[in-house]
Amino acid sequence: MSKYTIAWLPGDGIGKDVMDATRIVLNKMQLDAEYVHGDIGWEFWCKEGDALPQRTINLLKSVNAAMFGAITSKPMKAAEAELVPDLKGKGLIYRSPIVRMRQMFDLYICLRPCKAYPGNPLNFKDGIDLVVFRENTEDLYAGVEFSPVPQELADVLGRLSKPFHVFKGLHGDQYAISCKVNTKKGSERIVRAAFEFAKKHNRRKITIVHKANVVRATDGLFFEEAKKVGHEYPHIQMDDANVDAICMWLMKNPHSYDVLVAPNLYGDIISDLAAQMVGGLGFGCSGNIGHRLAVFEPSHGSAPKYAGQYRVNPIATILAAKMMLDWLGETEKGTRLEQATASVIKEGKVRTYDMGGTHSTMEIAEAIAAKV
Ligand code: NAI
Ligand code: MG
Repeated sequence: MSKYTIAWLPGDGIGKDVMDATRIVLNKMQLDAEYVHGDIGWEFWCKEGDALPQRTINLLKSVNAAMFGAITSKPMKAAEAELVPDLKGKGLIYRSPIVRMRQMFDLYICLRPCKAYPGNPLNFKDGIDLVVFRENTEDLYAGVEFSPVPQELADVLGRLSKPFHVFKGLHGDQYAISCKVNTKKGSERIVRAAFEFAKKHNRRKITIVHKANVVRATDGLFFEEAKKVGHEYPHIQMDDANVDAICMWLMKNPHSYDVLVAPNLYGDIISDLAAQMVGGLGFGCSGNIGHRLAVFEPSHGSAPKYAGQYRVNPIATILAAKMMLDWLGETEKGTRLEQATASVIKEGKVRTYDMGGTHSTMEIAEAIAAKV
């Protein structure tokens, strides 16, 4: 029996291309693992009315970790239209499988390292080395939403909230409400994860990202909890910034930042910004981490126009595999994988189109595999 069981979830479009490439590298490293394929994505929505079938959920309950490629998502009407005839008109509602996995398995940390590897022609500036900790289960992504707004809810809000009075006369179908829900527990644990990471990896500074001056209730709570946690780590510098300001400061002085921690939506936004500064979608990797399970993925989507052509950059997914190795405790292998990747980037002999080259997805993987 292998030491690890890894759920292997390629999903849609280029998800398969980049996962095939990553497997070449993992196989070369001889990780003592069994990789078990799991069905996920658009195909299963269309055929079965469920993009994350129960058998895949069961698989995830039994594995040490998962690697995930990408999925295709479409708006509600388009999703309904692509169901097989038998499933049409049954009130099935498409929900993103990655968002469901995060909530179902309480994968509360979204960890996104953004490092400018030397020699990457796509680096915004050399020497950037940021790590984003994004809260992954609550905030504006909690799914507590109303469109149209039920009169019952409007009545309660009218009674309890003064600012709501300007909306009071509106008919329910003329507006929508998405609730931002932040808990003390959710805020505390993501900030603590960031500080623990900083302690373990000798990171000098944590920046708390919020908008507590305007979004007083939820971001106020997040910021207060963050400060409490920060005081337990006197050797790590802590500062804070409003989410709008940090977008500007990150562009201006990326070297002044180190680890950033934010509620879900702000974390989503700043991690795309940070990823673009170190090469964009071909380099953005991500870990969705809980206490028992972690799911690693590239941040990009299924890029349908490139699906099956083996032209896209697999480095984001290969770096996600490095994160998985670290999480499993295989840090020596994780370090070797990162060094091999960095070396291929630096040499610049094998490059996909996004880096100005003409090599294929698999050629990059083979170049990295040759160096691990
Ligand atoms: P996308 O990330 O799939 O691709 C946008 C463009 O970025 C591509 O056309 C391509 O030019 C470039 N690109 C993406 N990955 C690349 C790579 N590895 N190497 C080189 N270039 C790369 O975003 P898009 O087109 O907005 O969405 C396509 C589908 O993916 C949609 O259905 C969307 O809902 C879904 N999606 C899924 C995500 C996930 O699985 N986590 C995340 C984002 C989008
Ligand atoms: Mg995003």
